[in-house]
Amino acid sequence: RKKVTIGTLRSLHRRGEPITMITAHDFPSAHVADAAGMDMVLVGDSLAMVALGMEDTSEVMVDEMLLHCRSVARATKAAFTVGDLPMGSYEIAPAQALETAIRFIKEGRMQGVKLEGGKEMAPTIERITSAGIPVLGHVGLHPQRQNALGGFRVQGKTSASAMKVLEDALAVQEAGCFAVVLEAVPAEVAALVTEKLSIPTIGIGAGNGCSGQVLVQVDMTGNFPPGRFLPKFVKKYGDVWAESLKAIETYRDEVKSREYPAPEHTYPIAPQELEAFVK
Ligand code: KIV
Ligand code: NA
Repeated sequence: RKKVTIGTLRSLHRRGEPITMITAHDFPSAHVADAAGMDMVLVGDSLAMVALGMEDTSEVMVDEMLLHCRSVARATKAAFTVGDLPMGSYEIAPAQALETAIRFIKEGRMQGVKLEGGKEMAPTIERITSAGIPVLGHVGLHPQRQNALGGFRVQGKTSASAMKVLEDALAVQEAGCFAVVLEAVPAEVAALVTEKLSIPTIGIGAGNGCSGQVLVQVDMTGNFPPGRFLPKFVKKYGDVWAESLKAIETYRDEVKSREYPAPEHTYPIAPQELEAFVK
């Protein structure tokens, strides 16, 4: 498979072919995403929860993100890689954002970065893109602002709120984003925003009218224990956690019963050598 570049993404968009994106947070999760033919792999700050067990994304640090980015980069041969700038690493000033973005390229070995925000982030996006770093925008629901939002709420449910989503998307496009994530907005609003933009929209909880889709890998593969809350937009395509549980339980049982390891799992020794050793 050929390496996906900004040019590849542009031509997918021009042809009207949906762009596929999924998160990855380490070598194996990136390896499988790349093997499955994903166009883009995102090292999302959702790794705070799904890989590190944190309460929310506000806890994850740049250095922690970079460790995960490097491991993802090693496994991603074809997909275009994007690293999520964590909360606190880009909001203070465009210069701070550029410094962080450069670390994601040089240390994290990513090809682009993502940051949350609309109009207010335009100067920051301009600063990063002017240094030759591709920026993926993220408008609609901004999970990093959950404390101000009072939780994770669908955005764009009133005409005024929908207008804000559109204005934010247009602003990050104007600032130089190569694409924009639309999170948790009504499908009709996302479809209209997609129509008005010249860059691709990547939807998550934004319906079928976007230029592409993104999901959190552990959610869509079902790699989590029963009882975990899943947002409405997640489709569980697999049951990886149950598969792993079954495998590990069987291993446990076979160790306890001495069924494992069987002869085929052991190394041979020549009979005369064994005889000499036993003596
Ligand atoms: O952190 C993340 O995984 C994300 C995507 C779901 C868009 O930001
Ligand atoms: Na994120």
